[in-house]
Amino acid sequence: MKKLIAGNWKMTGDLNDARTLIADIVNGLDGEKELLEKADFLVCPPALHIGAVRHALHGFAYIHYGAQDVSAEGNGAHTGDLSASMVKDAGCSYVIVGHSERRADHGESDEVVATKAAAAIAADIVPIICVGETLEQRESGKALDVVSAQIKASIPEHGAFNTIVIAYEPVWAIGTGKVPSLGDIDEMHAHIRSLYKELYPEHNAVRVLYGGSLKPANAPEILHLDSVGGGLIGGASLKAESFLAIARAI
Ligand code: PGA
Repeated sequence: MKKLIAGNWKMTGDLNDARTLIADIVNGLDGEKELLEKADFLVCPPALHIGAVRHALHGFAYIHYGAQDVSAEGNGAHTGDLSASMVKDAGCSYVIVGHSERRADHGESDEVVATKAAAAIAADIVPIICVGETLEQRESGKALDVVSAQIKASIPEHGAFNTIVIAYEPVWAIGTGKVPSLGDIDEMHAHIRSLYKELYPEHNAVRVLYGGSLKPANAPEILHLDSVGGGLIGGASLKAESFLAIARAI
């Protein structure tokens, strides 16, 4: 399976920054045949900048774009939210759901994350379901159990599960410069994959991304792990140079 290199631009930059960043990524990837054969690319800009990214990517089908969140509800009276059909209509093929920042800022529970993932699947959008433990949970030896529980409750009950992606993002590694040891990353990814197989034996293997302070310096060893299906990159995805350096690490 190709690795997925995904940029999470979070709530950063203005329209001009989004245009510049996507143009730089396109220029950097243009002609990189070998790299494009090895990896799928995805950028998730702030929702207001998706239109500009779509415009810039016209004719560059090898870069996908997605949203950072989606409502579980259909179109209607839900001020400020975006429905899955709107996200699809904007051309998005992926959506991040259950990022730890949304779980923390908006109190999103696993159950809410599951309904959002279900809405995405129903609209033919691939949800990237984020899970990950806190530092306290890691230090008390509960990381595997916490992530198992999140996965069991955050994956929707019905749906085409072979279209989901899981992102393992330890909360304490996001934006901190800290990363788990390679052994811990490998152990968690292998654990997630075997749990998924046990829960959904009838489905294909799932792609599990690593996220949390992924940088050009640590990407080669992390992305070379067989259990790691790619990366979800925050800070380092905001400069084309570092985003592409991470991609080249594969
Ligand atoms: P980071 O963020 O790469 O800046 O740690 C990753 C994420 O939150 O998806």
